[in-house]
Amino acid sequence: MAPFFTQVVAVLAVASSTTSAVTFTIPSQAHTGNYKYAPVDPAPVGISFEFFAFPSYFTNVSATTQCLSNWKDLTGVWPPIRIGGTTQDRAQYDARTSAYVVYTVANAADAPSSLTFGSSFMTLASKYSGSVVVGLNRGKNNLQNTIDAAKAAVNGMSNLLAIELGNEPEYYPSNRQPIAGGTWNPSVDAASQNNWAVSVGSALNRRDIIQAGNSNDSPPKWGAAELIATQNATVKQYIHNYAHHNYPGGTIASLMSHSGISRNIHVFDADVAAALKEGKQYIFGETNSVSGGGAASVSPTFGAALWTMDYALRATYSNISRTYFHHGTVGNCQYCFWGRYSMGTPYYGAYIATAFMANAASLTALDDGNSNYAAYVAFDSAGVPLRALLYNSDYYSGSGTRSSQSFDLRGLAGSSVRAKRLAGDSAAARVDRGGKVTFGGQTFTDEDCKISGSEMFETIAASGGQATVSLKASEALLVYLK
Ligand SMILES: *[C@@H]1O[C@H](CO)[C@@H](O)[C@H](O)[C@H]1NC(C)=O
Ligand SMILES: *[C@@H]1O[C@H](CO)[C@@H](O)[C@H](O)[C@H]1NC(C)=O
Ligand SMILES: *[C@@H]1O[C@H](CO)[C@@H](O)[C@H](O)[C@H]1NC(C)=O
Repeated sequence: MAPFFTQVVAVLAVASSTTSAVTFTIPSQAHTGNYKYAPVDPAPVGISFEFFAFPSYFTNVSATTQCLSNWKDLTGVWPPIRIGGTTQDRAQYDARTSAYVVYTVANAADAPSSLTFGSSFMTLASKYSGSVVVGLNRGKNNLQNTIDAAKAAVNGMSNLLAIELGNEPEYYPSNRQPIAGGTWNPSVDAASQNNWAVSVGSALNRRDIIQAGNSNDSPPKWGAAELIATQNATVKQYIHNYAHHNYPGGTIASLMSHSGISRNIHVFDADVAAALKEGKQYIFGETNSVSGGGAASVSPTFGAALWTMDYALRATYSNISRTYFHHGTVGNCQYCFWGRYSMGTPYYGAYIATAFMANAASLTALDDGNSNYAAYVAFDSAGVPLRALLYNSDYYSGSGTRSSQSFDLRGLAGSSVRAKRLAGDSAAARVDRGGKVTFGGQTFTDEDCKISGSEMFETIAASGGQATVSLKASEALLVYLK
């Protein structure tokens, strides 16, 4: 029965296509053909936790550990986390407090305007089984306090990857941060970053410890190339990697557009190249769909999930080693992947991106980034194709006819391949409002983030190395090649 059924599926897929197919040829081996390749980090998709909210996520939100471990089940590695954000520059270290964080807010939805944290904050971070970047304060211009906090991090955390010295420094003047009391511009900030990197790095007696940059305003004004040009060898020895923040914003349709995502990532090309030239990694240290906690009409939707997926893959393809998706105030966070009571739809996009890149050594994009249709291939360490990911970024609002697009795949081995589909009611669907979104037929349950339902694979018949699959507007397909 099975072979007959898959043939019927293939025929229907061809028959239902209304526009001409897009054709992609899968290289039989990595680093061959007319394609660019990028290395894949063991865990390229990570999470950024707003500084003051980090203890809450790990002590008072039960989904957190399960949501992270679902990705570890795919890759074998706990996802990397970064702790930081605007409140890192409002936080002061207090060696005497036994609390993780101390602050008061008028409303639980608010972020504190000032806070203190103790060494137990580092102890909690040290218990996480993945790597951790800790963002410390530069805005308050209290170097000794930051050195004390950095020492507590280095001494208390064997999983510490790097330390940031300040968050989004271009906003220091508008945030009335003391360090920006006089003139403040990219070159003044660069001199400040460099002096702090030398002071903190030498106090710790640790090289390769600082995650530098951390601006949100677009390069070239604020960015790695601009910063690196000001750094001498003494400074560079303390730099672990360079990071930038990015919140593309827009409508659901513009956010999820594949050509829009590709254009947005190209903004960082020169900065990535400048970091790689130094032999250092470049990452998105804090990012998500729309700044300021997200937009209610955009960030919690299936379109934003598709953005999350394609953005993480396009970033990796552009040699951006890791992408840390930001999570803010618990209970007041439109773009969050999970909360205390419900799942966030974007989690599904991050999950399929992680599943696609799991255990891969390299990947390529088969498309040029100029259309709405994307195709990626991931390869193992022997250069053998592991998986392909296809994305139809045509926008489907939920009303009217839903179009579909045929993808012709060439270069397949064997007579069939299996696939799992990321499907949603529409680009506007929200799982926290009863919308239906599934990956391979499965869902993630509210409150505990457990996988639910049985895993469903489609079988796609191939003949002469070719197969045709159809993807509805606002849909993605993960094809298993091995
Ligand atoms: C945990 O969350 C609940 C619900 O918002 C809140 O009332 C409680 O204070 C939180 N506890 C801690 C330790 O953060
Ligand atoms: C390198 O730069 C740092 C920070 O700007 C400065 O303190 C140091 O004197 C410089 N070293 C040399 C050898 O120029
Ligand atoms: C990523 O970096 C590698 C090695 O430096 C380079 O060959 C490749 O072309 C880069 N990828 C892209 C998409 O630019």
